[in-house]
Amino acid sequence: MKLFNDLADFSVAEIDDLLTLARRLDEHPEPRALAGRVLALLFLSPSLRTLSSFQAAMIRLGGGAFVISPDMSIHGLESRYGIVMDGVAAEHIREAVPVIASYGDAIGIRAFAERTDLERDLADTQFAEFRTLVDKPLINMESAINHPCQALADWKTMDELGVPRQGGKFVLSWAYHPRALPLAVPTAAVHMACHRGMDVTVLRPEGFALPDSIMSKARKAAESSGGSLRESTDRREAMEGAHVIYAKSWSSTQHYGDRLGDEKARRELTDWCVDEPWFEPAREDCRFMHCLPVRRGVVVADRILDGPRSVVIQEARNRMVAQMAVVYRMLRGD
Ligand code: CP
Repeated sequence: MKLFNDLADFSVAEIDDLLTLARRLDEHPEPRALAGRVLALLFLSPSLRTLSSFQAAMIRLGGGAFVISPDMSIHGLESRYGIVMDGVAAEHIREAVPVIASYGDAIGIRAFAERTDLERDLADTQFAEFRTLVDKPLINMESAINHPCQALADWKTMDELGVPRQGGKFVLSWAYHPRALPLAVPTAAVHMACHRGMDVTVLRPEGFALPDSIMSKARKAAESSGGSLRESTDRREAMEGAHVIYAKSWSSTQHYGDRLGDEKARRELTDWCVDEPWFEPAREDCRFMHCLPVRRGVVVADRILDGPRSVVIQEARNRMVAQMAVVYRMLRGD
């Protein structure tokens, strides 16, 4: 494997193969499997889980990882092209990325959406530029429009919980958040659930529809896996018989890059905080999923996060286990 950028690049059989490997490595540790191998990790955006789970994954397999981020004592990094670098930044990403990659056997990069130009973010332009700068296996640790590591871990979590693929009902729900957030996680989550063959509903308020390109890609995945995809603004109807609600906030694409416009659009939506009444029409055992970090009392009520519905810690642990399989395949091949 040379690139882990999008779960859509992998067939269901290939994903099952990765998840079988992940389970094997978790149950039967191989502490020498990646001895002497190095994973370079470049974080241009903040993290807790991705930062720690990739390092833990490499350590558990006998390899090592190093982290570079702008918060460290590094030269200021410039990412814009064609500008005269007479400001604070002393180093350009065009040199920094290949240098960091040259120290590792593979590299992971995280760079959130710039959120100024929707078309540019939908095309994942910045991550595509990174791809041209490295000649090593590359992992997308969350780009403008994708988070494949999260999607793989979430797929694994639902398998462990016995959430059915065919006939499993997955609700991706917009949730309130005081700030406009990227589209990467909802894009990855809706595609993952469709690819898994589930019946998927995107529940969101007016003005927060996911872009057509995201929906049509997910719909194609649903069609080829025997699932379905629809949208709803009606909470009760969307949650009817749900196995899973996956909550996430995202930007209003009508006001993309317009902070004040987005703020105005979400101002009246503070009741989009997942709480027990949401689950009344759902299955009794309906689970609550979220990629974390999550704002308590804003995105979801404490009693949901602290109660039996929540599987957020299991999802987070599965990040490490799923990524062990990814780096194993990348660095060993077998
Ligand atoms: N879910 C996730 O990617 O978490 P971090 O942003 O903490 O890495």
